[in-house]
Amino acid sequence: MEEQQILHLLGTLSIEEKIGQLIQLSGEFFNTGAMAVGPMQKLGIDGNMVQYTGSVLNVLGAAKVIQIQSDYLEKSRHKIPLLFMADIVYGYKTVFPIPLALGSSWDPEMVKSCNKLTAEESCAAGAHVTFAPMVDVVRDPRWGRCMESTGEDTYLNSIFAKAMVEGFQGDFTPGASLASCVKHYAAYGAPEGGREYNTVDMSERRLREDYLAPYKAAVDAGCELVMTAFNTVDGIPATANQWLMDDVLRKEWGFNGVLITDYAAISELIAHGVAEDDREAARLSMEASVDIDMKTACYSNQLKPLLEEGRLSMKKIDDAVLRVLKLKNKLGLFEDPYRGASITREQELSHSPERTALARNAATQSLVLLQNNKSALPLSKNKKIALIGPYADSQDLSGLWAVYGDKSQVVTLKAAFEEALPPDRFRMTQGCNLLDSHEGLGDFGFFKLDEAALTIQKAKDQGLQRAIELAEWADTVIFAMGEHTLQSGEAGSRSDLSLPANQTDFMDKVLPYVKSSVLLLFNGRPLVLTEIREKVDAILECWYPGTEGGHAIIDLLLGDANPSGRLTMSFPYAVGQIPVYYNHFNTGRPSRTSAHSMRFTSRYLDIPNEPLYPFGYGLSYHKTDYTNLLLSSSVLQSGQHLEAEIEICNGSDRSGYEVIQLYIRDLVGSVVRPVKELRGFQKIHLQAGEHRKVYFRITEDMLKFYTKDMTYEAEEGRFEVYIGSSSEDVLTASFTFMK
Ligand code: GLC
Repeated sequence: MEEQQILHLLGTLSIEEKIGQLIQLSGEFFNTGAMAVGPMQKLGIDGNMVQYTGSVLNVLGAAKVIQIQSDYLEKSRHKIPLLFMADIVYGYKTVFPIPLALGSSWDPEMVKSCNKLTAEESCAAGAHVTFAPMVDVVRDPRWGRCMESTGEDTYLNSIFAKAMVEGFQGDFTPGASLASCVKHYAAYGAPEGGREYNTVDMSERRLREDYLAPYKAAVDAGCELVMTAFNTVDGIPATANQWLMDDVLRKEWGFNGVLITDYAAISELIAHGVAEDDREAARLSMEASVDIDMKTACYSNQLKPLLEEGRLSMKKIDDAVLRVLKLKNKLGLFEDPYRGASITREQELSHSPERTALARNAATQSLVLLQNNKSALPLSKNKKIALIGPYADSQDLSGLWAVYGDKSQVVTLKAAFEEALPPDRFRMTQGCNLLDSHEGLGDFGFFKLDEAALTIQKAKDQGLQRAIELAEWADTVIFAMGEHTLQSGEAGSRSDLSLPANQTDFMDKVLPYVKSSVLLLFNGRPLVLTEIREKVDAILECWYPGTEGGHAIIDLLLGDANPSGRLTMSFPYAVGQIPVYYNHFNTGRPSRTSAHSMRFTSRYLDIPNEPLYPFGYGLSYHKTDYTNLLLSSSVLQSGQHLEAEIEICNGSDRSGYEVIQLYIRDLVGSVVRPVKELRGFQKIHLQAGEHRKVYFRITEDMLKFYTKDMTYEAEEGRFEVYIGSSSEDVLTASFTFMK
């Protein structure tokens, strides 16, 4: 449709039809046939308004979407199609690794390809919009939703945000692209105490410097929607925060797409204590230019009375409705309300060879080798391998947001080992449970607790006895341990980040019989591995690797692939160290260089300041040496650039990827500056024995920050350049910037 036609259509809508476009309801309201009386009563929504609803939450599947859309249009006066929006975060039926894993690949182009294939697959299932990417910067692993983010670094999250939006949206080809909804705006990843839905409170400087950039990167990449966060920002809940939504997002950044709330966030303004009732909550959200009310009755029941009371302008409502209609138009829904939904195509695309191949490759690139003492890895194929643990034969390898994943297609560790090794070389037993109890976990939508999974508990001695037998038989024991899926993801905050005690107690009883040990971890956040790492030879961080998890892990364990993952979130030495992140300030009493006696420096009495594993860290089966960091000049003039050159050499007999990282430090600023900040990286494949020079361009833009006056610019002075294999293992050079 032409814009004029959209404007004309808007003019023909009744107030109920307009408000309807601003309502989003979930599937139970659209089951064909009788009115959804129960759900309406539960939500408290005006029954007359349901028929005007503009979008549907988390209903997918070609047959279902086609049915709902055709029923709806049959009754619709203006034939305005429904928008189908869903949480398609890291895959549809074919599930890729969780974003915290994908971030560890340091390969934005690969991640973009994952999202492109996901968009095609889910379009066939009737999806129009995905509630992704989640780009929240995360520095507190107590928070369960770290799993959905690409990590702690603003610059890297911004790069992945762009790639993910471009992957989902492509060129908006119907049937092959999804409108992307970046979330959760803003700073949802910084709740106090790492406690879910808790207060976020920081200076505007920190908000702009560290947290807003990834959302802006998504907006600049053209994402069509933004989702408001549950949390407060500077004392005002994001959903009612006019400064954040209107002044920054719409006016400063020029975003004119659709702003949708998170689930029930408008009605939560009452609990937050900024709205007396639903009507005030609806008014505040409209004033903040929020367009769609996800799953409350606030907009449906209160916008008309607000109009009648003169407390809301019709223009506000028209502006919001127009943005929704334009989105539907851009998706081509007026021409084709089904937009490529096809039962046969949905079946053809799910787990296609192209998708499973990419899922396998993405996982091998995303897993991180944290420790490899005594070169326990890679395994030699003529050794006897025992696989022990609750993840040994589990298909729960996809994490909590694999809402539509086809679990039956997940390749287990056991299956992958049985494909790769002859029967006389491989044995397996579960040995123990993930948890001794599921108390407090609750359910999460599609992920229902399997109480039967606790059966091993009843036979735990056989479990242990069998495990000891296998340990005595084997040359190497592979322990497959980790968090329960429900221990991370939304509402998955934890105060204790060590492996569950029943698992470590079990390992303590088996380890005395073990010759060589490898720990595989399945988890959705950094864990505290300080104790367990002293007890095992090797540790491979597998995160939740998705559909092809078993194949990817076996590729790495047997050396058919060389680990190249590098952490994008620090692993704390202890929970007491949190928040711990690499780009921290130096303080006036830095523990390593202060003139004060050691006691009187910024440190703990009982643990080091440094994390157990730092940002950018990861091992490979090859070793790369970095030498001769040189700068093209010791002075960078404003508007010019410098070139940094470094030599790298893979002195091993095996090829592999290296993630060369560039950090910069501003030694003196009008405000304090981090001890280093990632400003570039290159992921390079090195042949065995290969020696090469790598170059980075250093520009004025890399030096910019929010100065004392909150202007975003570079300041003259001395800078240091660090290039290396992690945030802690670098070579140093320096230069002066002059305007
Ligand atoms: C949830 C999440 C959000 C998700 C939305 C719809 O509460 O916070 O990430 O997209 O609701 O399911």
